[in-house]
Amino acid sequence: MGAGIAQVAARAGYDVVLRDIAQDFLARGMNSIDKSLQRDVDKERLSKDEKRAIMARIRTTTDIGALSDTFIVVEAVTEEFPIKSEVFKSLEEVTSANAILASNTSSISITRLGAVTRRPDKVIGMHFMNPVPVMKLVEIIRGAATSDDTYEKTRGLSGKLGKIPLECQDSPGFISNRVLMPMINEAIFALHEGVATRESIDGIMKLGMNHPMGPLALADFIGLDVCLAIMNVLHDGFGDSKYRACPLLKRYVDAGWLGKKSGRGFYEY
Ligand code: CAA
Repeated sequence: MGAGIAQVAARAGYDVVLRDIAQDFLARGMNSIDKSLQRDVDKERLSKDEKRAIMARIRTTTDIGALSDTFIVVEAVTEEFPIKSEVFKSLEEVTSANAILASNTSSISITRLGAVTRRPDKVIGMHFMNPVPVMKLVEIIRGAATSDDTYEKTRGLSGKLGKIPLECQDSPGFISNRVLMPMINEAIFALHEGVATRESIDGIMKLGMNHPMGPLALADFIGLDVCLAIMNVLHDGFGDSKYRACPLLKRYVDAGWLGKKSGRGFYEY
């Protein structure tokens, strides 16, 4: 998702530093940006020169120190609190005291992330949806200490990126995943219990509810490990058994069948 976020920011005219821990990941990210922009060139919605200029605005690096001059950092690392908290501590060290530290987390508490820094007022959730260049929403999450100034600047930036910002308070799963994930989990339970085939479950939701993808295909698209992590956050956060992850989802994640990114999930890719 980091690549998608870099792409929309560069397309909106911002200079972007794309930082990852290894060159391979950066190359993969730039490759996906190249492919995504090429769709628009092919459809004559973007010229080759504009595409080149957008890509030239993105500088890649493995050095976190290269983020020192940024006015906002959007973190999009693995959905694990210990990893995110280490990243936030490093970001606090390398960025200027005025820089906003935003997280693209899909379910980790913004209040907890803010509390690992000495500037929780500048920590906010900026939750983009996949595929980032296509989806209009940015869910903006205010932590307990997020200031109004940080919120207004983040909301303004989201608009400049061509997105529609919608606000919610910090609560497990925010709004998007509190509503989406139990639906996906229920679809997995239905498959697990043999109520219907994967094609039937997805077809019913696509044709009957006008969803662009069925819940099982969407789970594969999001990543089954991410789905499981979000269900666990909901279960722990609310302490309500209605959020228990389906055993079939756990089994697939244990098997390494993580969806589209691993070549197999509820479907084969
Ligand atoms: N980059 C740029 N453009 C892309 C793209 C990409 N990666 N993927 C698709 N597109 C564009 C296509 O160019 C096409 O554009 P036009 O119609 O303007 O020509 C348009 O999107 C539709 O694409 P396709 O025709 O190839 O395919 P589709 O109609 O099946 O749409 C989809 C693909 C947009 C992914 C659609 O299936 C969809 O909206 N799916 C649901 C996505 C969703 O729910 N996302 C949220 C997931 S939850 C999340 O991200 C957050 C979380 O915390 C888990």
